[in-house]
Amino acid sequence: MAHILHIDSSPRGERSFSRKFSGEFITAWKNAHSGDKVTYRDIGHNTIPHVDESWIAAAFTPPDARTPELAKAIELSDTLVNEFLAADRYVFGVPMYNFNVPSTLKAYIDQIVRVGRTFAVTEQGGFKGLVEGKKLLVITARGGDFSPGSFAAPYDYQEPYLRAIFAFVGITDITFINVENLGAGDEVRQQSFAKAHEAIAQAVASW
Ligand SMILES: Cc1cc2nc3c(=O)[nH]c(=O)nc-3n(C[C@H](O)[C@H](O)[C@H](O)COP(=O)(O)O)c2cc1C
Repeated sequence: MAHILHIDSSPRGERSFSRKFSGEFITAWKNAHSGDKVTYRDIGHNTIPHVDESWIAAAFTPPDARTPELAKAIELSDTLVNEFLAADRYVFGVPMYNFNVPSTLKAYIDQIVRVGRTFAVTEQGGFKGLVEGKKLLVITARGGDFSPGSFAAPYDYQEPYLRAIFAFVGITDITFINVENLGAGDEVRQQSFAKAHEAIAQAVASW
């Protein structure tokens, strides 16, 4: 039985395409794998706080040496890390904002990339991801077209960033479904929807 952590990061509700398609995947997945567990976190509507000075002090203080104030400063991060580590698969719905992820997802990533919890520093001074054997599916929604060969492709800092940061914590099995051209006219958008439905059906069959 798999345990999926499903995260939406659009501040939009029913109008959100990343939310719609991540939901479509989860519904289809549950139909095919009724025994699997899904934990849902909506960081688009319940935004994640930025790390601050006491958070940083706490993160680099061993747990048993933390004052009650430092323990409090890192409490949400501990909850998010525990939730992240409890899952073995991840499904993220992610809008493209200014060629990257929305700031609440960046804040979430800052909360869960933690030394000693999701990555370690090796004796040689390198890094080692601690989140092994897991899979990530990212469904992005984008106003433009960033597909390989398009004129905007070099501006896609979203997919490379997410691949890099999750590989850093040890997750290298990463699939992207980029739903693009959502700012185009209705006909082009319908083509994007058709491609998205097909990619989601394929992912449900093969993920
Ligand atoms: C603040 C903001 C920044 C955006 N930046 C980009 C961008 O850099 N590239 C792009 O293709 N679309 C951009 N868009 C369009 C969104 O990616 C598009 O509307 C997408 O559908 C949003 O996801 P959602 O439907 O899940 O809310 C931007 C939208 C907003 C509100």
